[in-house]
Amino acid sequence: MKMLITGGAGFIGSNFIFYERERQPETEIICVDKLTYAGNMETLAPVLDQPRFKFVRADIADRKAMDELFAAEKPDVVVNFAAESHVDRSIEDPSIFLQTNVMGTQVLLDASRRYGVARYHQVSTDEVYGDLPLDRPDLFFTEKTPLRTSSPYSASKAGADLLCNAYQRTYGMPITISRCSNNYGPYQFPEKLIPLMIANALADKPLPVYGQGINVRDWLYVEDHCAAIDLILEKGRVGEVYNIGGHNEKRNIDIVKRVLGILGKPESLITYVTDRKGHDMRYAIDPTFIHDELGWLPATKFEDGIEKTVRWYLENKPWWEKIVSGEYRDYYERMYGKR
Ligand code: NAD
Ligand code: TYD
Repeated sequence: MKMLITGGAGFIGSNFIFYERERQPETEIICVDKLTYAGNMETLAPVLDQPRFKFVRADIADRKAMDELFAAEKPDVVVNFAAESHVDRSIEDPSIFLQTNVMGTQVLLDASRRYGVARYHQVSTDEVYGDLPLDRPDLFFTEKTPLRTSSPYSASKAGADLLCNAYQRTYGMPITISRCSNNYGPYQFPEKLIPLMIANALADKPLPVYGQGINVRDWLYVEDHCAAIDLILEKGRVGEVYNIGGHNEKRNIDIVKRVLGILGKPESLITYVTDRKGHDMRYAIDPTFIHDELGWLPATKFEDGIEKTVRWYLENKPWWEKIVSGEYRDYYERMYGKR
């Protein structure tokens, strides 16, 4: 079996590659990644020299490159993780989000159709459902919740999902979609909440909490997301959308305090800053469908997952310190300098 994994040098894609390597060592993996600011070859070091693994640096929106790659490799399965993924960046400049997340998906769908892949899986997000009010804890996102996006990021992901639906219906392509809640774990780029707070706390720098810190996210350990995708590839039904989440809602401020607690750093580092524009209030997944259909349940409790994650960042300082000292710093200045 040959699996083409896009965006595999990023956070979830790399974790998925490691997961598949363990679970199905016979699978041939081709990782395609453009290596944007978020892609890091160092992350893939453990698998780079392995047999049945190949890395190709390419842009999923480059039609010629994808056509040549599909013609040469003829993958059986395509799993599309490649995306611009950070909401704050999408607010600064939406165009690359549309280019990669929408046009890139179209290019991959066309190539998958042309070369007859047996399964195309689109890795999407719960953010396509917009947000839920804080005062309605009885409400959750189900697969039937209408798409109602808030940020250019979520709009681009919803656009890609709709294209997948269209290609499935129009051309009868074997497509599945998964929509997961916020992930955390090893190799997450330190611009996202949890790794940013760990990195800042370790450097005794202020921890920038947007608004009042009362926005709620539904956190899932990255390996549980990988397990769900693996299960969808194995047993999922073509044409279905699967929501992935483990009923683990937390307010941002509580996440930040937990990180400080684990690191033994003072809460005085917390700094409230101007809120994100259009900031979604609450995400919360109803995972009944994937549980009933595929038997998926998260394996990692938040308390264990967050401790493991903080420990990983402590033990892998060179990985993220290089990032923090590079291009990321310019972005950081632009994003937080005037806040
Ligand atoms: P990430 O930003 O860490 O990684 C994205 C990867 O895609 C990087 O390696 C980058 O170099 C690559 N990439 C970007 N543009 C590309 C292009 N045009 N061609 C080829 N490669 C390109 O993102 P992530 O957090 O790992 O997210 C992966 C996927 O999961 C995304 O589709 C995202 O929307 C989705 N998702 C993420 C979360 C989360 O909490 N992080 C939750 C649900 C869904
Ligand atoms: P983030 O990790 O960017 O994920 P998403 O916006 O896709 O959910 O942010 C998670 C939450 O943390 C979100 O409500 C915004 C908030 N946040 C902060 O308060 N401060 C920060 O510096 C960042 C990056 C995020």
